[in-house]
Amino acid sequence: MGKRIRVDKLLSHMGFGTRSEIKKAVKQGKVTVDGKTVKDSGLIVDPGHNEIAYEGSPVVYRDVVYFMMNKPPGVISATEDGRERTVIDLLEPEDRLLEPFPVGRLDKDTVGLLLLTNDGQLAHELLSPRKHVPKTYQARVRGDVGDDDKQRFQEGVALDDGYVTMPAELQVLERQNQDGDVYSTIRLTIHEGKFHQVKRMFEAVDKKVVYLKRVSMGPLGLDETLPEGTYRELTEEELDSLRMHRHSGS
Ligand code: URA
Repeated sequence: MGKRIRVDKLLSHMGFGTRSEIKKAVKQGKVTVDGKTVKDSGLIVDPGHNEIAYEGSPVVYRDVVYFMMNKPPGVISATEDGRERTVIDLLEPEDRLLEPFPVGRLDKDTVGLLLLTNDGQLAHELLSPRKHVPKTYQARVRGDVGDDDKQRFQEGVALDDGYVTMPAELQVLERQNQDGDVYSTIRLTIHEGKFHQVKRMFEAVDKKVVYLKRVSMGPLGLDETLPEGTYRELTEEELDSLRMHRHSGS
């Protein structure tokens, strides 16, 4: 038996636009199924059997998946590793079939938002250095993070290899004293993704990240109801927000 899917969902998954853009395209008569103009964007089709076309060009169907994971500590964000457990090992066997991979890397001890997909184009766009997709991290840092650090991060700091970071926004949420040391809870938004970037930025201002969690990536925020080590499919709204982000070119 073939797969049954709404034609607007299929086209949106194939990168033809958001669900509302597809609706508009349907109204404009741009979508045909088996040569007939589609009237209802909710039409159910079987991509294995029906011939779907957008502006006259056949749409080649490929099944895509998008998962949001709350990465736990102790696993690496790669698809395969000879020795270590990877985020792919945390997926149910049926969710591995379409070979999703993590979009970008979090360190082994970093937790939080990780997107997994087999949509290479979307992944490429989210990771492209030219797109400067913002990533926000929450961290616990040993040291008294203050206005000086905010300013330095805003101006850009030189990392250990001499690379000067792009302007980043730092916010201090809380300060605590513990065993004679001061610890700061912060949020930092960066617009690039150098290796160990957040940890190295704090090293550059003589402080140490002791806990790091990614809370957002572009328009996608971590679903805080997901326990660490679990995941779910992106909602249509989340997927649309990623696609809009892509179209806006920001
Ligand atoms: N910055 C880091 O230092 N580590 C991460 O995992 C992500 C950003």
